[in-house]
Amino acid sequence: MIDGNLTPEGAARDPGMQKTSTLQQRILERIRQDGPITFADYMRMALYEPGYGYYVTGETRIGWEGDFYTSTDVADFFAHCMGRQLLQMWEALGKPEPFMVLEQGSGRGDLATTIRAWTAQESPDMHAALEYRTADINAGLDALQSATKAVDDAFSPMVILSNELVDAFPVHIVQKYEGTLYELYVTEEDGHLSEGLGEPCSTEVASYLDHYKIPWRTYEDGWRAEVNLAALSWMERTSQLLMGANPKRKRHGFILAIDYGDSAKKLYTQYRHHGTLACYYQHQLAEHPLLRPGKQDITAHVNFSALIETGRQQGLRLHSFSTQSQWLTTMGIYDELERIRQHDFGIIDQSRSSDQGQIAMFRWYNLRQRVSTLTEPAGMGNFKVLILKR
Ligand SMILES: C[S@@+](CC[C@H](N)C(=O)[O-])C[C@H]1O[C@@H](n2cnc3c(N)ncnc32)[C@H](O)[C@@H]1O
Repeated sequence: MIDGNLTPEGAARDPGMQKTSTLQQRILERIRQDGPITFADYMRMALYEPGYGYYVTGETRIGWEGDFYTSTDVADFFAHCMGRQLLQMWEALGKPEPFMVLEQGSGRGDLATTIRAWTAQESPDMHAALEYRTADINAGLDALQSATKAVDDAFSPMVILSNELVDAFPVHIVQKYEGTLYELYVTEEDGHLSEGLGEPCSTEVASYLDHYKIPWRTYEDGWRAEVNLAALSWMERTSQLLMGANPKRKRHGFILAIDYGDSAKKLYTQYRHHGTLACYYQHQLAEHPLLRPGKQDITAHVNFSALIETGRQQGLRLHSFSTQSQWLTTMGIYDELERIRQHDFGIIDQSRSSDQGQIAMFRWYNLRQRVSTLTEPAGMGNFKVLILKR
């Protein structure tokens, strides 16, 4: 191990935090027993450790009262666009009955609920055919393990979708140090968790950036990046789940994944010196991933080139890759907004200065603001929407 001196001064040593965390004790015990663990192993324990991990304990995480919010929380427009997307897919697949949709990493199930309500109103035919299932690790359904029990072979075509799932998978972290690529490990120092550099734990980690032709050798020392190998195995499993167990009768369908991230070339630039790892605690960007294991969210941007390539290797084709802003526009978010304005907010034009007119104005601004939040180029609008098909 090389001591990379990477822990911000005092960050992982907050005594209040350290004392209360039983998960931290478990992690320290594992390190004492097995030696330093990769950051990916640490992140796996912090997020998924049975009984302790951030995503598997029942506390409120998502939504305004939790640690973060998602597009689903911002406005129903998002779910309505997804409804229209599913309608297009259902039609493209020949209107199958039943129409199986599996949502992975579904959280509280809000997207599912709003989509079901939308289809009931807007497309009763699809609604009658729709078999919408949700799977989340907090209900014991890990998208990285075999999720096949969620689906059987009775279904012909299907759609598997997810919003902000892949960014939660455990990542390895690599760092350039004196011209060489090292991996970040989590180790113990004076009874606390701390970071150190060592040889990459596998050839997959060591060769990952080269595979995507990232010129990291030309980057400055100290440059860091995340390597999400779990995303590759997720795409393998999910493609196989889509196609079904019968090799002679492979299913048709779509995989749709929304997340923050980019193509490899745009993700791993020299300008992202510290990589994209981020922690969220009570809506604040928290400073250090080794603090509060199990109590804060840890995420990293997704390398979509890797998802596309793995999907292709599994026999899928790229259907579309766009920003969330482009996708929502194509799926009619502004048309819906305009319909609502004409239908519900005519009073603004008729008597703007009346009390009712003023109230309507505030409601209208609020609605428009929500659409802006979903489409804003520097925020959620820059999320990526990947659709693969078979
Ligand atoms: C950021 S939240 C997104 C929730 C929801 N999709 C939404 O848009 O509001 C991530 C969700 O993925 C779930 N999750 C994380 N890792 C998972 C895994 N390996 N398998 C299944 N679900 C997972 C978490 O429990 C959480 O509900």
